[in-house]
Amino acid sequence: YPIHEPPLPSNSLSVNKESLQKQIDELSTFSDSPAPSVTRILYTEKDVMARRTIRQGNTSSEKFPVSVRSKTLNEPKLRRFVKNLMGLSGLSVREDAVGNIFGRWEGYEPELAAVLSGSHIDAIPHSGKYDGVVGVLGAIEAINVLKRFGFKPKKSLEVIMFTSEEPTRFGISCLGSRLLAGSEALVKALKHTVDNHNISFLDAARSAGYAKDQEDLTSVFLDEDSYSAFVELHIEQGPILEEESISIGIVTAIAAPASIKVEFKGNGGHAGAVLMPNRNDAGLAAAELALAVEKHVLEFGSIDTVGTVGIMELHPGAINSIPSKAHLQIDTRDIDESRRNIVIDKIRQSASTISKNRGVQLSEFQIVNQDPPALSEDSVIKAMESASKELNLTHKKMISRAYHDSLFMARKSPMGMIFIPCYKGYSHKPEEYSSIEDIANGVRVLALTLAKLSLS
Ligand code: GLV
Ligand code: MN
Ligand code: MN
Ligand code: MN
Repeated sequence: YPIHEPPLPSNSLSVNKESLQKQIDELSTFSDSPAPSVTRILYTEKDVMARRTIRQGNTSSEKFPVSVRSKTLNEPKLRRFVKNLMGLSGLSVREDAVGNIFGRWEGYEPELAAVLSGSHIDAIPHSGKYDGVVGVLGAIEAINVLKRFGFKPKKSLEVIMFTSEEPTRFGISCLGSRLLAGSEALVKALKHTVDNHNISFLDAARSAGYAKDQEDLTSVFLDEDSYSAFVELHIEQGPILEEESISIGIVTAIAAPASIKVEFKGNGGHAGAVLMPNRNDAGLAAAELALAVEKHVLEFGSIDTVGTVGIMELHPGAINSIPSKAHLQIDTRDIDESRRNIVIDKIRQSASTISKNRGVQLSEFQIVNQDPPALSEDSVIKAMESASKELNLTHKKMISRAYHDSLFMARKSPMGMIFIPCYKGYSHKPEEYSSIEDIANGVRVLALTLAKLSLS
């Protein structure tokens, strides 16, 4: 189904690279860490600023205490934010109770299930400016591309910015898309979820203007058949496309992620006075468990099995005090779900053995999430493939080892993902980079894919 008769020449979908690069650069300034790093955490001032529409003349941030108001807010050039950009592209904007933002371009058969595209803009501490952002600003630009081309959608096209793909603040990954996918367990959990400063999820959401009036978070759940397809554009976050000089990755599956919180407790005590035979050091139990995670992952001899202890906190955190409490967060993933589940079981057994051997208490072992993998839908894969072909872009099928909101959207809609190359595969660090040429290629493939899906 060509989007135009006669079939469009491959150069007729043109991306405004300059403007897109400028938007990416501007968005990266909404950060709580210095450039080139980006830190943008859910419902903080920077996250709220990056979302909103600033009306001409409204340049203050009275909602926030003077101490945390940002100087950048008063600079008139910083007016391009997600809702604003959606509005400028002629989309009608709505937000749900947790701040998933939707922009809709009504099709000429508006009763048909829409085609959706988008990603996230939250950024883990000291990360880069492309993860997620390319899929949000890129989807808005894809709409602009289609409008400039004169395309008329049959099924409506929608752009989404998901709330909190990253687990940084509340320990919950893909919070917005998990809720959209209808997770009752998450609705329940969010009633008593707090961040590191003991601020509840609901209070944080309210301070950002969401979850008003004790709003029932089940209101976020998508109806069945809300969307006929979901497509996410994202940087690869791995080195394959760059190494092989391929422009487009067509994702066929997303690996199965899991995360675990562990806490050990011991007696602590004076680092000089308590002699070695008399200690039960919670920190050493944590160190031993971290090494056990690595061992269990490597035991399979599979390159696809990974495990990471990215958080390890010791209490009281003084050089001359034996750790009385240790808190770990463990991330483990695999494209093979059963193998990933065996790793989780082994980690649990090790935690319990270590606590017995060291005489420390295993005060918490909580599996925060243990998600199955997701498969892309053939129809969406076909649309992405023919779009790449028609645009004369080299492409290959691949697996996503990172997780994405697509993992959860796949539960509600046929799903597909478009990857673009990124420098050395770097991600989740400030060196993350994709060239505007590669981004523009991704946007063109996305635009043509959305057009095909809209007319199908
Ligand atoms: C999400 O950013 C992930 O860790 O894959
Ligand atoms: Mn990420
Ligand atoms: Mn991402
Ligand atoms: Mn991710």
